[in-house]
Amino acid sequence: MSTKGKVYSASMTALGVLGLVLIFLTRGPVVAAAEAASPGAAAAEKKAGGAASRPPSSFDGLVAKNALTMIEQGRRIFRFDTFGSEAFWGDTLQLHKAIAGEKNGGVGGGVSPKTALSVGLKVDSDALPDSLKQQLKNGKVDLDDPAITLALLKLNAVVGVTGLFDQKGSIRSMGIQCAFCHSTVDDSFAPGIGKRLDGWAARDLNVGVIVSLAPNLKPFSDLLGVDVATVKKVLTSWGPGRFDAELDKDGKALRPDGKQAGTLIPPAFGLAGVNLHTWTGFGSVPYWNAYVAATEMHGSGTFFDARLADKDQFPVAAKSGSGNTRAKPDLITSKLADLHFYQLAIPAPKPPAGSFDKGAAARGKQVFDLKGQCARCHVPPLYTEPGNNLHSPAEMGVDSFQADRSPTHMYRTAPLAGLWSHQKGGFYHDGRFANLGEVIDHYDTLLGLKFSEREKLDLIEYLKSL
Ligand code: HEC
Ligand code: HEC
Repeated sequence: MSTKGKVYSASMTALGVLGLVLIFLTRGPVVAAAEAASPGAAAAEKKAGGAASRPPSSFDGLVAKNALTMIEQGRRIFRFDTFGSEAFWGDTLQLHKAIAGEKNGGVGGGVSPKTALSVGLKVDSDALPDSLKQQLKNGKVDLDDPAITLALLKLNAVVGVTGLFDQKGSIRSMGIQCAFCHSTVDDSFAPGIGKRLDGWAARDLNVGVIVSLAPNLKPFSDLLGVDVATVKKVLTSWGPGRFDAELDKDGKALRPDGKQAGTLIPPAFGLAGVNLHTWTGFGSVPYWNAYVAATEMHGSGTFFDARLADKDQFPVAAKSGSGNTRAKPDLITSKLADLHFYQLAIPAPKPPAGSFDKGAAARGKQVFDLKGQCARCHVPPLYTEPGNNLHSPAEMGVDSFQADRSPTHMYRTAPLAGLWSHQKGGFYHDGRFANLGEVIDHYDTLLGLKFSEREKLDLIEYLKSL
C-alpha cells in the first residue's frame, strides 16, 4: 500500500470511530425517549402545537416511538387480523364445520390435531397454558380428537387461523391471517409446535387440501364457471407450500402442459429495499397486501388496480370486478401502513451454524460475483436489482406461463437472503428446480458459464450461507 493509501485508510478509520461514537451518543437518548414516552405524551405534544415547534431531538424521539408502535401494531395485524375474512371462510364456505366434525356440531369426521399438523398447520407454543404443555409432554392429550383442535383454536394457538365461538363455546365461524401462509414455528416444543417465526414461508402448509374440506365450495365454482368436483381437483393439485393467487383473476387452473398452476409461497422477510414483489412483480408490498387481504383472503375492504379489468388477460376479474373492490366496512386500508412497516422490519434469518461449509462458501462468493454473473441481477446485499427488478421469460430461459398471468409479463429477480429457510418445494416460482444444483445447472446452460464441478459445489454452499 502506498503512503498516500495509508494516510487515507488511517483517516477513514478515524472517521469510522467518530461515526461509531456519534451513533452511541445519539442512539441512547433516542431509544430511551421512545421507550419513556407514554401514549399520553404524544397527545400532549399534539396539543402543544405539534412536534415541529420542538427542538429536533424531540421529533427524533417521536419518530423512534412511532417506529416501535408501528412494529407492534403490524405484528398484531400480521398474526391475528382476519380483515373480516370469517364472513367468507366460516359464514360462507363453512370451513369451521368441517374442522369441528359432526360430534362437535359440524359435519363429517372433523379435523384432529394430528391431521391439522399433517397438512402443515402449526401450533404457537406460547399460547398454550403450562398445564396443557405438561399434558402434551406426558402424552395425555388425544391428538386424534377434533375437540382438541377446537380447544387449540379457542386458545388462539393455531398459527394463522382464528376460530370464533358463541357463548356456549361452540365454534360459529373462522377467519384466516397473513401468518397462515407466511409464518411457521421453530419446532422447539415438538414437530409443528413451537415459537412463531413470522415472515417464514409456510412450505409444509397444504392450503388447497385445507380449503377443499369446506362443505360449500359453490362460491369458487360459480366464480370459475366449473363444477365443485373440478374445484376440488384444482385445489388438491397444488401440494404443500403452494397457492394460486391468480386463479380467481384469470381462471387458469392448469398450465398448458397439464401441470398444476400454483406458485410456491415466498417468504415475507428481508423485503426492505426491494422494489417489486411477488414472483412476477405485481407491485410493492402494500399493493400486494391489499390485493391479498381483499381478493384472496376475502377480507372486507378496498383494493384497486385498473390493470385487472383487462378482459383478455384477466377474464374472471374483469367479470367479477375484483380489481375495483369497495367492500364496506373497510377493514383493510387503515392497516396497510403498519403491516407494511412490520414486514420491512423482519430480517432474513441467518443460517444455523454448521449448516454450510464456510471455506466453500467463501470460494462460492467469488463464483457468484464474477464468473457466474449472478451478482449482475442478484445485487448484494439485496440480492435483487435496485430499480426495476424484472426480467423477461426468454432472458431467464423459462416458459412465460406465470409471467403472463401478471400485468408485467416478467419474472422478478428473487431476493436470495434467507434462501436456506425455504428450500422445501424447490426453486423458481413454481419449484421447477428441485434443488440448488438444478438451479445452477440451468444458469450454466443458459449463460454458457462452463462451471467446473468444484465451482458448482462452492456456489451451492454460498447460496446456503445467505
Ligand atoms: C393462502 C396463502 C397466503 C396468504 C393467506 C397470504 N399470502 Fe402472501 N403470498 C402467497 C403467495 C402464493 C405469494 C406469491 C404470489 C405470486 O407471486 O403470484 C405471496 C406473496 C406475498 C408477498 C411477496 C413476497 C416477495 O418475495 O416479494 C408478500 C410481501 C406477502 N405475500 C405478504 C402477505 C401478507 C401481508 C398477507 C396478509 C395480508 C399475505 N401475504 C397473505 C400466499 C399467501
Ligand atoms: C438475468 C438476471 C439473473 C441472473 C444473471 C441470475 N439470476 Fe437468479 N434469478 C433471477 C430471476 C428473475 C429469478 C426468479 C425466477 C422465477 O421465479 O421463475 C431468479 C431466481 C433464482 C433462484 C431461486 C430463488 C427462489 O426463491 O426460488 C436462485 C437460487 C438463483 N436465482 C440463483 C442464481 C445464481 C446462482 C445465479 C448465477 C449463476 C443467478 N441466479 C443468476 C434472475 C437472475
